[in-house]
Amino acid sequence: MQPTPQNRIKKLLLVTLVGAATGCASTNQPDTMGAQAPTSQTSPTELVDALNGVFGVHKARGSHAKGFCMAGQFESAAGAAALTRANMFQANKSTPIIGRFSIGGGNPNAPDNAKSVRGIAVRATDGSERLDWVFISAPHFFAQTPEQFVQFMKVRAPDPATKQPNAEAIAAFSKANPATTKQTAYLNSQPVPASFGTVPYWSTNAFIATNSSGRKQALRWRFEPVAGRVGLTDEEAKTKGANFLRAELGERLAKGPVTFNVIAQLAQAQDQLTDPTEPWPADRAEVTMGRLVINRITDQACDGETFLPNTLPAGLAPSADPVLAARTGSYAVSLGRRLSK
Ligand code: HEM
Repeated sequence: MQPTPQNRIKKLLLVTLVGAATGCASTNQPDTMGAQAPTSQTSPTELVDALNGVFGVHKARGSHAKGFCMAGQFESAAGAAALTRANMFQANKSTPIIGRFSIGGGNPNAPDNAKSVRGIAVRATDGSERLDWVFISAPHFFAQTPEQFVQFMKVRAPDPATKQPNAEAIAAFSKANPATTKQTAYLNSQPVPASFGTVPYWSTNAFIATNSSGRKQALRWRFEPVAGRVGLTDEEAKTKGANFLRAELGERLAKGPVTFNVIAQLAQAQDQLTDPTEPWPADRAEVTMGRLVINRITDQACDGETFLPNTLPAGLAPSADPVLAARTGSYAVSLGRRLSK
């Protein structure tokens, strides 16, 4: 019997989730560091429905719909092994990566020259372990919980009568939920990035690293561009137009790899681990864990993939952040929808 397209998609989703939960990845159970973990009742379907309600359903990712794939390697730095026992962070390791740059939101034609969030997804795997990093170009996520994510989207869904979102309802929601305004305020304070390679990216979610002596450390990730943080003036951004980022990266890569320092910001005991809208104080210690080296664009090669931020090697575990926990299921639902469209 020939498998139907639906059965093929179901099988792929199962392989994706099981592969993420076991396979190369050894853990995706949250490490609560002994604290009571907040829980969420919001289902993956509700989360993706909320995104689709704002952006529509396309043959594309439910969020970060516009983007392209790339490849390269992750090179560990001396000192990374003091934080985690994961193989890829041991001295002088080079691990192949595939990845994707994107523009935030579910519009596959989103303009490259707006002050919107950019995304980077990276999968580092040597076949024996796997780490997915899925970050944005802001130190603040826009929702403290999965419930707030759904409310944030619902209030922005167009009114069926006017086909427009209700500006008054959005303003009232923002007033009642000030944490949801921090990301936009940050992005508005920054220039439009000149390149996907000249903007930093943050995990916003926290993770727990364990080293070979069993010592635990909560951390947040940041990719810091080695080329520096470079933005466009408003005039330059206008001139560049809505679709310059892919060509720009191609031209940059023709001259050499695009690199990022992979930084771990270390939490202190009093720092909260479950609110991705709120960065830790800037004076927290940082460790350079390695270098991300991107050397080629692979266009749509990763379109059949989903990058799952809870897919981690032994020596790294998710924190108890319910936003982080909610991502895996919703990414799988989004993958299923875009593959069956
Ligand atoms: C409850 C919270 C969140 C929900 C419901 C959500 C939902 C989604 C969905 C449905 C996708 C498309 C996945 C796919 O089709 O493969 C996606 C992609 C993405 N998300 Fe999230 N997300 C959440 C939190 C975050 C956070 C905290 C970050 C980073 C700080 C983030 C960064 C990204 C990026 C960069 C992509 C694009 C990945 C790619 O290029 O494949 N998301 N998100």
